[in-house]
Amino acid sequence: MPQMLNVSPAEQGVRLINLHRPDVLNALNTELLGELAAALAAIEQDPDTRVVVLTGSRKAFAAGADINEMAERDLVGILNDPRVAHWQNISAFSKPLIAAVNGFALGGGCELVMHADIIIAGEDAKFGQPEINLGIMPGAGGTQRLLRAVGKSLAMQMVLSGVAIDARHAERAGLVSEVTQPELTVERAIALARLIAQKAPLALRLAKEALLKAQDTDLASGLRFERHAFTVLAGTQDRKEGIAAFQEKRPAHFTGQ
Ligand code: HXC
Repeated sequence: MPQMLNVSPAEQGVRLINLHRPDVLNALNTELLGELAAALAAIEQDPDTRVVVLTGSRKAFAAGADINEMAERDLVGILNDPRVAHWQNISAFSKPLIAAVNGFALGGGCELVMHADIIIAGEDAKFGQPEINLGIMPGAGGTQRLLRAVGKSLAMQMVLSGVAIDARHAERAGLVSEVTQPELTVERAIALARLIAQKAPLALRLAKEALLKAQDTDLASGLRFERHAFTVLAGTQDRKEGIAAFQEKRPAHFTGQ
């Protein structure tokens, strides 16, 4: 089975994962999603990787679930769909995940982008949920994460019309944090990843968890979680190191302890 992913070695705490099914615009079939989930699970245990950048090609981040594979699945096939577990495993990744998006991010591709913590887009990127054109609807978080990212009106417009939005629109709506020239998208995402990779790993993990909590909990519970996480970090070596480095006017060196 040919590899559908390229995973770079860790460099300055960062790995680049490249989706690679060029003939079908990186359509997400079960194997590709499985390889991605497995790669992230392995990276979870790798202390040398602190941040991951996920990208596709210049033409497409990913043009959606693999429609030809989907066509072969009936109701029972969908009920037993192994991709559900792959999506859950991808969403469980605890380290910062940055998506560097050029070209099409459609359907499952847009849903995969929304599994990332930070999204950097090239000016030519297109984000859309065109499932409605196939007589279906988003099934990997597209209704839930998109609404939380861009609000009700635009999420409804995108999901009900199937029409994609461009990178600038996505930036204005809050789906994307930065827009770059397409040839710089990956470079910019890696530079940001390297910056984040220098921070304290445990603080990154808990900050990510607290921010994600804000999407699915009430304010009082979210604030309680934040307070607990903040308190837990008081027991870490890296907190001592961060404060000492500030007082001694030197850069901090965080070890994840
Ligand atoms: C399988 C796909 C594909 C897909 C493109 N291809 N998208 N194959 N699944 N999602 C294939 C095409 O069939 C074609 O193969 C090759 O990739 C190049 O695509 P073209 O259509 O020739 O390119 P272009 O004319 O530039 O159009 C690009 C495009 C279009 C606008 C992105 O390909 C398109 O509309 N794709 C489908 C997008 C979509 O509907 N996505 C949502 C899928 S449903 P050949 O062999 O002809 O060269 C979904 C549900 C998620 O994602 C649910 C999760 C549980």
